[in-house]
Amino acid sequence: MLPNFVLIGFMGCGKSTVGRRLAALTGHRFLDTDDAIVEARNLSIPEIFSQLGEDGFRDLEQQVVEDLVGVAGIVLSSGGGAILREPNRAALKKIGIVVWLDADPDTLFERATRTGRRPLLNTPNPRETFDSLLSSRRHIYESLADVRFDSSRTEQDDVARKVLEEVMRFRSRRG
Ligand code: S3P
Repeated sequence: MLPNFVLIGFMGCGKSTVGRRLAALTGHRFLDTDDAIVEARNLSIPEIFSQLGEDGFRDLEQQVVEDLVGVAGIVLSSGGGAILREPNRAALKKIGIVVWLDADPDTLFERATRTGRRPLLNTPNPRETFDSLLSSRRHIYESLADVRFDSSRTEQDDVARKVLEEVMRFRSRRG
């Protein structure tokens, strides 16, 4: 029986793309915390931020994460800031093997700003905001992760397969 996979990492690290591929490889169901929030509220992420503020968004995110504890057969892509709250960190660990998808900052920045749909980067100086958020969060991703995978130098198509191999190695080491 394959474990659940929990993808964490900064905006632009490829959690959704890799998560979908991982789900296809494993037969697991793919879930994304942002998608679940959007569906539940029938509003986009920028609309939720502007109507409820970041705290309101985080409350919805926490609810989604906590509701998934005990659910089997899933690949979960978590929003980049889901790791900020301690109850979420505890829940993510319970849900499955935590994989930190990392990449070099320039790659992350380019990918994170491509869509213009990330309200936290909607500031006068997005790169400065990005750098300061990334440096305040890196240690949290690091401390939470069972497995870290840097996708900067891996072909996009190969990332999911390699992540799967890393997780299997981690599982056999852990016994
Ligand atoms: C956020 C990341 C976003 C989304 C929201 C806040 C963050 O998800 O949850 O805009 O705090 O880093 P992605 O990591 O999927 O972009």
